[in-house]
Amino acid sequence: MAGPARNLDELLAEAEAALAAAASVPELTETRARFLGRKGSLSGVLRGLGELPPEERARVGQEANRAKERIEALARERREALEQEGRGRALAEHRLDVTLPGAAPPRGHLHPVTRIEREMCAFFRSLGYSIEDGPEVDTDHNNFGALNFPDDHPARDTQDTFFVEGGHVLRTHTSNVQIRAMTGRTPPFRFIAPGRVYRHDLDPTHYPMFHQIEAFCVDEDVTFADLKGTLYAFARHLFGPDTKLRFRAHFFPFTEPSAEMDFWWKDRWLEWGGCGMIHPQVLRNCGIDPERHQGFAFGMGIDRTAMDRWAIPNIHLLFEGDARVVEQVG
Ligand code: PHE
Repeated sequence: MAGPARNLDELLAEAEAALAAAASVPELTETRARFLGRKGSLSGVLRGLGELPPEERARVGQEANRAKERIEALARERREALEQEGRGRALAEHRLDVTLPGAAPPRGHLHPVTRIEREMCAFFRSLGYSIEDGPEVDTDHNNFGALNFPDDHPARDTQDTFFVEGGHVLRTHTSNVQIRAMTGRTPPFRFIAPGRVYRHDLDPTHYPMFHQIEAFCVDEDVTFADLKGTLYAFARHLFGPDTKLRFRAHFFPFTEPSAEMDFWWKDRWLEWGGCGMIHPQVLRNCGIDPERHQGFAFGMGIDRTAMDRWAIPNIHLLFEGDARVVEQVG
């Protein structure tokens, strides 16, 4: 009697220790099989039952079953403990520090020309000007003829025109919009026209495509003083309240009197654009009576303004698509 019972107690104690020592789930599975498997120690005890005297068989059989249940329960518990430990370890290893700064995706920037153009448009909108669009391929009439450029007059050469088939040109300036916007409209009106223009010109400060913005205002009693006042307000908005302007008498076929204007930037005069009172003949060409209505107009390079603002030395840098240029002024 003492034999098998003591064996079972020892077996149980041994199983308990072995299961507790199992350090991983596979190891535990192996240990469990060592005691409960078909060739395991407990099966050995059960197989030996037949050799016991009948009065002991039932008792030892029951004890063996209890031992089996106990080992199974211990194995289950140990398995759960191991699995939990594993989950804890995995969580600790893959801990996510949500306080770490995130990796910012690269930020896009507006092109310097776009930035200046938007700033310019916003300024003129605040003065009540509306934006007028015009085509980049236009008739010779809108780009030259109606603007008082005589046929075959050398004035046309000053603009290094790209001619297109069918009597059209790539517009050489945004002044073509004056004709389109004024024809068929009754003053007063105030417009700006930003956009691309084209001239056959290529060196570090010239590019065959560049941007201009044109402003024109037609009303009764518009004078050169209004033109200067508007240009001063515009320049000071862009370059600061102390900005100085200089007007140099000049010739444009579509304005009279005409001037070129420069602004003082840091330590020198920079050429900014052209301006003048809209020529009476241009008003007449658009069906406006110059005895009653007068207007001023001016136009300047947007790219030049961006280059001056950010000290960009070469106009080509603006159009070669190098994102670093855009980032630096972003
Ligand atoms: N269109 C002229 C140019 O491109 C500039 C200008 C605009 C001059 C309006 C006078 C009035 O040089």
